[in-house]
Amino acid sequence: MTLFPQPGADTSAWRILHDAKADLWVDHFDGRWLVQTREAKMPGFLLPPGEGVARSVYWRPRDKAAGTAPERVSGEEVRERFAVRENGASFWIDFAAGYSCGIFTDQRLNRRWVAEMAGPGQRVLNTFAYTGGFSVMAARSGAETTTADLSGTYLDWTWDNFALNGLERSGHHGVKGDAFGWLRTFARQGRTFHGIVLDPPTFSRSGKDTFRTDRDYGSLAALAVSVLEPGGWMLCCANTHRLSGGHFERDVFSGIRSKGRKILSSESPPMPPEFRGDDYLKTLRLRVE
Ligand SMILES: C[S@@+](CC[C@H](N)C(=O)[O-])C[C@H]1O[C@@H](n2cnc3c(N)ncnc32)[C@H](O)[C@@H]1O
Repeated sequence: MTLFPQPGADTSAWRILHDAKADLWVDHFDGRWLVQTREAKMPGFLLPPGEGVARSVYWRPRDKAAGTAPERVSGEEVRERFAVRENGASFWIDFAAGYSCGIFTDQRLNRRWVAEMAGPGQRVLNTFAYTGGFSVMAARSGAETTTADLSGTYLDWTWDNFALNGLERSGHHGVKGDAFGWLRTFARQGRTFHGIVLDPPTFSRSGKDTFRTDRDYGSLAALAVSVLEPGGWMLCCANTHRLSGGHFERDVFSGIRSKGRKILSSESPPMPPEFRGDDYLKTLRLRVE
């Protein structure tokens, strides 16, 4: 069992162990381990190294439907939310929040890319935003942001993350509701963005329609590009094993081209190194004419 070392001095949250074959995943959140397994019990062999290097070990079965909060296995009790660092930014983690506890560690390098791409004078739209990690990165770089999510709880969490980073709310907007609906509204209003993040769940309901990443990404990309400024950038992510990198690229490209837009550059980087060998998260980083 190899534990992945801390990726940098200014990062205290990362996937310290990722073994998809063994159905075993461990996130390190500033010294607190969150162990997830497919099996309905904590693997005993993890305890010795866990106790040696972690101040707390929490475990939960990886069962999204159950939405179980993790239970303490050893070490300090984590009673309240706590902050972690990632590439200089800070984010709240809450073990009591249910299935997802604040940030997805697999998006670390994409969050860094958004920080590099965003800058003063830009408007950045973060759709399917969850706790606003990409919005925080864009705002820290000086961009104005719009954060869209179905959940008011996650929008509130986004503003808490802004406050944690010392970011003022002015120039930053939150829109609650269906991202597809908001993209259509922005297009009607002529509201445009210099950068757009698309990171939808694998499956989502949008009004009467359903969205499936492996079937409908092209139409999502087409909607998004209709509110993208000329020369703008897009981060497109798809979190599913069911879609190959090639298939994903074809879908995104055809959606963008269906609106008569030309792709100036495209990059499909691998996942952070601690996830290599699994590569379920597909990423496209684009510039569009
Ligand atoms: C996989 S998470 C996104 C993770 C996020 N991009 C990040 O990196 O932290 C999916 C998010 O999409 C939101 N969501 C699901 N369906 C949606 C929809 N139709 N419109 C807007 N948000 C939606 C959920 O509430 C959840 O916060």
